[in-house]
Amino acid sequence: MYLSASRKPPSRKGSMHDVPNDLMKHIHELERMFTVDTPKLHEIVSIFQEELVKGLSVAGGTIPMNPTWVIGYPTGDETGTYLALDMGGTNLRVCEVELPEEKGQYDIYQSKYRLPEEIKSGTGDQLFDYIAECVKQFLIANHECQDIKDLKELHLGFTFSYPCEQNAIDHGILQRWTKGFDIEGVEGHDVVPMFEAALERKGVPIKITALVNDTTGTLIASAYTDNTTRIGCIFGTGCNAAYMETIGCIPKLAHMNLDPNLEIAINCEWGAFDNEHRVLPRTVYDKHIDEHSPRPGQQTFEKMVAGLYLGEIFRLALVDLHSNPDVKIFEKQDTSALQIEYSLDSSFLAEVESDPWENLMETHALFEKKLKIETTEPERKLIRRLAELIGTRAARLSACGVAAICKMKNIESCHVGADGSVFNLYPNFQERGAKALREIFGWGKTVRKDPIQIVPSEDGSGVGAALIAALTMKRIRKGIHAGVNVKRKNSLIPPTP
Ligand code: GLC
Repeated sequence: MYLSASRKPPSRKGSMHDVPNDLMKHIHELERMFTVDTPKLHEIVSIFQEELVKGLSVAGGTIPMNPTWVIGYPTGDETGTYLALDMGGTNLRVCEVELPEEKGQYDIYQSKYRLPEEIKSGTGDQLFDYIAECVKQFLIANHECQDIKDLKELHLGFTFSYPCEQNAIDHGILQRWTKGFDIEGVEGHDVVPMFEAALERKGVPIKITALVNDTTGTLIASAYTDNTTRIGCIFGTGCNAAYMETIGCIPKLAHMNLDPNLEIAINCEWGAFDNEHRVLPRTVYDKHIDEHSPRPGQQTFEKMVAGLYLGEIFRLALVDLHSNPDVKIFEKQDTSALQIEYSLDSSFLAEVESDPWENLMETHALFEKKLKIETTEPERKLIRRLAELIGTRAARLSACGVAAICKMKNIESCHVGADGSVFNLYPNFQERGAKALREIFGWGKTVRKDPIQIVPSEDGSGVGAALIAALTMKRIRKGIHAGVNVKRKNSLIPPTP
């Protein structure tokens, strides 16, 4: 039979008819715990919207809504060569980005470095020395014929994807570590001079032009090639979004007497949504994750939706079911590998969800290989359903954040540039998020194309950071100094003659 290429591949039917009644009872219980139905989506979006507004107010709220001093969108005419350093949740990446004369184009050369696990709980000096060394190695490898000392005109956009309070583009006080990081002596400090001191120790004369969040980078990089972009999102190890706000709508900046029509990117840090536990349907597993994390009480939303936690939610649910005498799963099996905290990451869940076979034989092999557990077919059906529930909940809750920003800004149609391992690699995440948006906005069957679409973004942490460095330098050259740190040692503003 001829199948059109645009049709969806046939999916597994997923019948539950051979699952014994007692196990079905527990599957229904999991469904009850993890399902976020349409009325609940509405309730969450409405409180989310309230909290976003609160974050912009003078009194503030739990969602930080940090102004980033990225002012306005790129025009597509930015040019030059810039460095970008991306310190995300898992890897470190150093890039050299060339913005040529052609509108909206770029070339990028990059090297990736592993961020050693021990660094994530070490000291600030160890962290910054390590990343400064990576920058140095990158420059040595990519500028073989030049002395490093001659590279001081290169400007660096530093993508540091943690909540920072910024009073300028080249300034950022780390509010708190997220994504499982717990590095001593950095919270409450400006990370720009800390990193510049490390660069100096390594003899690297590079200037930090902009401290960038990955979401802001994503917003700017996506807007560079697609002018319908209004929001940048990361659905990866962590989860967060940035959007453009007019200064006049940010009461907490009123005292600065800036032009109320200027647009400034806000890094929402929406991972902190519902730290007061007003609305999110937290399960016992979400509560366990929070209580056993380095920062209990923080990042409530993120801990339910981000890649760092999805595998752990899944593992905790399986451990719980196994230890329940009423649920007969993994009987007489050695579950010691399953008992290890954070031993399953979201790619494990993604593999379970991608298993195309009716009898879930790939899941069988996965459990055998990774956990040394022999599963029965009914057990695998429960496992598959659990993975679907966790993945679907993450996508639906994530869509609530996007909807809340759109509602707050009265955005009726736009593109949302998105990046991150969950968005790019987790099966059905994009479709499930789109479906949730349809339910929230009530787009019926007559609406042929979703007005608000979450689409894959350009490389925000690389190209986005470079563009932000370019935009900053463009403003400085024009003599516009608002949002640039005048007081720091390596100030970007040239001294007046
Ligand atoms: C965490 C960080 C945030 C980042 C997000 C995605 O939520 O706090 O800054 O944007 O992860 O990486």
